[in-house]
Amino acid sequence: MSHDTIVVLDYGSQYAQLIARRVREANVYCELFSWRTPAERVMALNPRGIILSGGPNSVYDTDAPTLPKYVLESGIPILGICYGMQLLTHTLGGNVAGSTHREYGPAEVTVDVDENPLFANLFGQPTEGSAHNTLKVWMSHGDKVEQLAEGFEPLAHSGGSPFAASADLSRNYYCVQFHPEVVHTPMGSQLLSNFVHEICGCAADWTPANYIEEQVASIQQQVGAGRVVLGLSGGVDSSVAAALIHRAIGDQLTCVFVDHGLLRMGEGAQVVQTFEREQGMNLIAVNAIEEYLGALAGVTEPERKRKIIGEKFVRIFEREANKLGKIDYLAQGTIYPDVIESASHDDTSAKTIKSHHNVGGLPEDMTFALVEPLRSLFKDEVRKIGTALGLPDSIIWRQPFPGPGLAIRCLGEITWERLEKLRAADAIFTSELRAAGMLRRGTAQAFAVLLPVKSVGVMGDGRTYEEVLALRAVTTEDFMTADWARLPYELLARVSRRIVNEVAGINRVTYDITSKPPGTIEWE
Ligand code: XMP
Repeated sequence: MSHDTIVVLDYGSQYAQLIARRVREANVYCELFSWRTPAERVMALNPRGIILSGGPNSVYDTDAPTLPKYVLESGIPILGICYGMQLLTHTLGGNVAGSTHREYGPAEVTVDVDENPLFANLFGQPTEGSAHNTLKVWMSHGDKVEQLAEGFEPLAHSGGSPFAASADLSRNYYCVQFHPEVVHTPMGSQLLSNFVHEICGCAADWTPANYIEEQVASIQQQVGAGRVVLGLSGGVDSSVAAALIHRAIGDQLTCVFVDHGLLRMGEGAQVVQTFEREQGMNLIAVNAIEEYLGALAGVTEPERKRKIIGEKFVRIFEREANKLGKIDYLAQGTIYPDVIESASHDDTSAKTIKSHHNVGGLPEDMTFALVEPLRSLFKDEVRKIGTALGLPDSIIWRQPFPGPGLAIRCLGEITWERLEKLRAADAIFTSELRAAGMLRRGTAQAFAVLLPVKSVGVMGDGRTYEEVLALRAVTTEDFMTADWARLPYELLARVSRRIVNEVAGINRVTYDITSKPPGTIEWE
């Protein structure tokens, strides 16, 4: 089945991925490309509409990103957002005013036309005393449009922008100065939905059920009677990939789960319970704890730890895969943001490049064909597919966990005893957060870190000299920047009391109040 598709051209906006996510939330397939991508690649998707994202440039900058010719030649509807609006206006002969004054933050936009498809269903019933043609929006721009291009008419204004929205109705070109994709524009999702459904005429056929059906067919076609091996970590991506491939080819899939002893409390058992017992998959659970601890003995330097763990994984995975006899395919839980990030490495307008790699990566000298059924999905879509496939919430809503596991949260030397201490403290923190309803909402990631520091305390009548534990909890949208979570004092007090009382060898608990930047989320 091919889907009606929308393309987002990325002009360097930190929100570009969000635009694509919002379009998909309106059940329309959407892909993101750099504005520099060759026309053939973009047009090969046969898009029904193109959205131009915002970006950090002014159209007057030397080397400012431009509007590729094919976009206008395609004859399909266009929506320009922020820089996209300025670029479209500038290219078509309107006037954009350079300005050193930024309009940044919440604003109110007044819609000046009675009927326009972009603004359909955005306003509730008029109530007495309240304007029903105003929208709360998020603005973030320096330059602004001062004169519309020929053929365009104004649709809306704000205090800072005489043309907060405009359109050329005959060509189906639309522009908004504000950001409909961010949560601070509450009706923005509806506006984007209007663009893709009402203006571009896309069908609402991008749904979890359709996706599963299509992928099952495509995996069956790709794999035929072949055999597939997948490295299962228990994280969301590899778990959902396993469940989807298993739905398609059943016993032709074998999952390999390597327990390196660096997991959180109960996680190893949970993987076996979920995938072997409940889902009935072929699962090889390898107990490699001794092997990892041996290799890590005496190592304190973080990068060394990461390297050892990554290399070990490759070797163990290879060894297990070789025992299986002939394997034709290697399956991976690669998701869309991984694909976009690796594709944008040589693109200077992409400002964020992830530096971490999961240890579940492909062994370099293994030459399998790949099965990657989640390659086009965002994380929230992966979760929806996983739920539709019957995976439990405990897997679907698992917090991101670094590939090297507790190794990078156990600062200093890694010993089994210190790992057990860390696991116990982490479990107390997590269970208290869960009880307070703050594990899924309120924190994006929360964990304990064991420090290689001892401090003095007093317990009963005696002095103690034991290790220090740090608690870390952050809020973040994208893990590139983060803030420390403002957890309630009472909750922190309870967690600290319980850890010092219940976990032998820890006599002091601290809470990390550093944002990222300048800190990072993990300590190592
Ligand atoms: P930082 O510490 O860089 O973390 O702010 C951002 C996100 O990446 C995760 N992280 C890792 N994931 N291997 C991984 O697979 C690693 O070595 C690693 N280091 C950090 C971290 O948990 C957070 O979600």
